[in-house]
Amino acid sequence: MNKHKAVFFNCGRWGEEGEAYLRRNEKLKTAGVEVEFADGILDKDHVPAGADFDVLGVFMDSAVSAEVIAKLPSIRFISTLSTGYDHIDLAAAAARGIPVSSVPAYGENTVAEFAFALILALSRKICEARARVRDEKRFTTDGLCGFDLAGKTLGVVGTGRIGKHAIRMAKGFGMTVAAYDVYRDDAFAKEMDFRYFELADLLAQSDIVTIHAPYLPSTHHLINAQNIGLMKRGAYLVNTARGAIVETAALRAALQAGALGGAGLDVLEEETEMKAGDMAADGGLAAMPNVVMTPHNAFNTREAFFRILDTTIDNIVAFAEGAPANLVK
Ligand code: NAI
Repeated sequence: MNKHKAVFFNCGRWGEEGEAYLRRNEKLKTAGVEVEFADGILDKDHVPAGADFDVLGVFMDSAVSAEVIAKLPSIRFISTLSTGYDHIDLAAAAARGIPVSSVPAYGENTVAEFAFALILALSRKICEARARVRDEKRFTTDGLCGFDLAGKTLGVVGTGRIGKHAIRMAKGFGMTVAAYDVYRDDAFAKEMDFRYFELADLLAQSDIVTIHAPYLPSTHHLINAQNIGLMKRGAYLVNTARGAIVETAALRAALQAGALGGAGLDVLEEETEMKAGDMAADGGLAAMPNVVMTPHNAFNTREAFFRILDTTIDNIVAFAEGAPANLVK
């Protein structure tokens, strides 16, 4: 007899394999958790009528607002299949006594690798080169001259789990690293031979800046109209963290003016408002020739996905056993 019913939204992105993994899972079965899947995301326009499940499983692409929580009177636990949780109204969940668990770590290397995919796409003009061959049907190199990473300075904003992997990778490329964090890890800086700076000094000396800080009130528009001008002329900005850490209008203006050389963006300030395929909220960035934009895909590898599922299973079992784990505070 199952004691709990968990419904996962938009799990189908990984095909039937992820669903089968959860359905077959012995830990969930033993804990009396029945598993079901809903097509598509959960947001205020997509709340299933007559929902009777007590465990809600969502990815970053759902928007679990106060309105959504109010429409789901049966839920007792929310498990987000992500590290970030800014797509969940924590105050509304807390007001109903609903614990929220996340996946604190699953893809430090995964996201750092993606940041370097964006960096290399920009430095070696990979998107333009592909279009040259595939779309223009020309096998020529004119206009495709890039730049070496070796010898350049990578500014790493946020030296936590992902930032540390980015630093290791940068060192592998022969780059100099300048870092900024509100909490410095001096032992790691010594081990990896890099230095911490104030943000303004990091911006002024970096050829490429990559952001790996969380989105918090203190990091809202951390890169903004006031400080983006401190960046080296022609420098690149890469954001795989959260969109609103960068002021979109300031970035667009800097790119349009040629102050910045380009940007690699996996996250957008307004991405939670863009669920219906509406790209208007990106400020026109996706259409710029020197911007490589991807749809919040940095976490998305097969290995990371199964690490996410394993932690999510443990989170749900912990809830079922009355001791929720990996709680978002
Ligand atoms: P973490 O918690 O290990 O590290 C974050 C670092 O940022 C910490 O060292 C912290 O001290 C620092 N920090 C906090 N406030 C800061 C501030 N005001 N200025 C500078 N640094 C500050 O987090 P982790 O695992 O490295 O992840 C970083 C972020 O990456 C997550 O919060 C999430 O938003 C994003 N992310 C994006 C993914 C994607 O698919 N695009 C996937 C996973 C995470």
